Amino acid sequence: MQANLSRRHFLGSSAALGALALTGCQSNASGAAELPFSATDSNGPLALNFNENSLGLPPASQQALAKALPNAFRYPDQAKSELMASLASHHQINADQLIYGNGSSEILKMAVDAMAAPGAQLVMPDPTYGVAEDYALARGLKVVKVPLTSAFETDIAAMKAAVAAHPGKSVVYLCNPNNPTGLMLPQGELANWLAQGSDALSFILDEAYAEYVNDPAFVSAIGLTQTNPHLVVARTFSKIYALAGLRVGYGVAHPSLIKAMAAQASIDNANLAGCVAAKAALEDEHWVTQSRRSNQDALALVMATLEELGLKALPCNANFLFHQVKGDTAQYQQRMADAGILVGRAFNHSNGWNRLSLGRPDEMKRFCQTLIQFRQKGWV
Ligand SMILES: Cc1ncc(COP(=O)(O)O)c(C=O)c1O
Repeated sequence: MQANLSRRHFLGSSAALGALALTGCQSNASGAAELPFSATDSNGPLALNFNENSLGLPPASQQALAKALPNAFRYPDQAKSELMASLASHHQINADQLIYGNGSSEILKMAVDAMAAPGAQLVMPDPTYGVAEDYALARGLKVVKVPLTSAFETDIAAMKAAVAAHPGKSVVYLCNPNNPTGLMLPQGELANWLAQGSDALSFILDEAYAEYVNDPAFVSAIGLTQTNPHLVVARTFSKIYALAGLRVGYGVAHPSLIKAMAAQASIDNANLAGCVAAKAALEDEHWVTQSRRSNQDALALVMATLEELGLKALPCNANFLFHQVKGDTAQYQQRMADAGILVGRAFNHSNGWNRLSLGRPDEMKRFCQTLIQFRQKGWV
């Protein structure tokens, strides 16, 4: 079984230090040279391992940053209020249902901290995005990790059983679509369970990749938060909005839960650059469409190659794809790294499969060529 190496743990490892030294910055979208900030192009490894949006900073965000940075000697209160107002209007909710996070990771932390109680446990799928586990352990909660089904689906029935078996409070972390599989949760079953929230059962629903979902059956749980005080939905600007380095996330919940989470937040957790860039990206009507299109083009290229090679892949509802590599995943990842491409990382219960972040179509062509060479060598 592989260790479930979270990004945080990966970044602390010596392998990561070597990889980051080589990686440098991502190249930017075409036309970026006319914009205030052009990403440094790099001859280093192609980073297809952290589910970032390789199109680079949205042009509207670049313009907003250039305009706002001279005022960065001021505290960010106004920029933060403007972002939150824009988000409230975007989701058609009240401002008191929203909370800002230094990335959605901070939303997960605030939620765990606000929901924790003596004798509480955290129940989560395995594998999934791992940081709620870290926060729960730091808080002294017991953590129960429920393996995905053999079809890599989140096993809601088994998670419910883990909740029922516990005498104290349960905090449930769910990720929809799940990372690393990209699979959506069963919509009806999910909504039914979320409705069962109580003082003894709270839910953290992570929708980091919601904007990438293609399946029309997907319904965000944001609409449930107004009437359900035991549910928070976490969202981020790190994925489709391409602002991972600026650390902007937000939570949507009932005002009573928002208040409890706010008590756990670091004071002034927002920064001016993140706020103005996020507001501009949110209000850019083309960005999401353009990013989804690029992601679909990238996906089509990779799917064609995987099909040609007879390697299976799960349905993709995100900017990453979970696919078969046949051999040992760690060895495959190392060979890709040796070929200058960083892919996936270790996830429990999934040897022989790998998570591939979808970069730009030109980047994915390079990946596909390398994968075909691996087949010629008998490696996949
Ligand atoms: C499912 C999921 N949630 C949250 C995050 C953290 O995102 P942020 O950059 O907003 O902290 C990630 C990052 O990869 C993720 O995959």
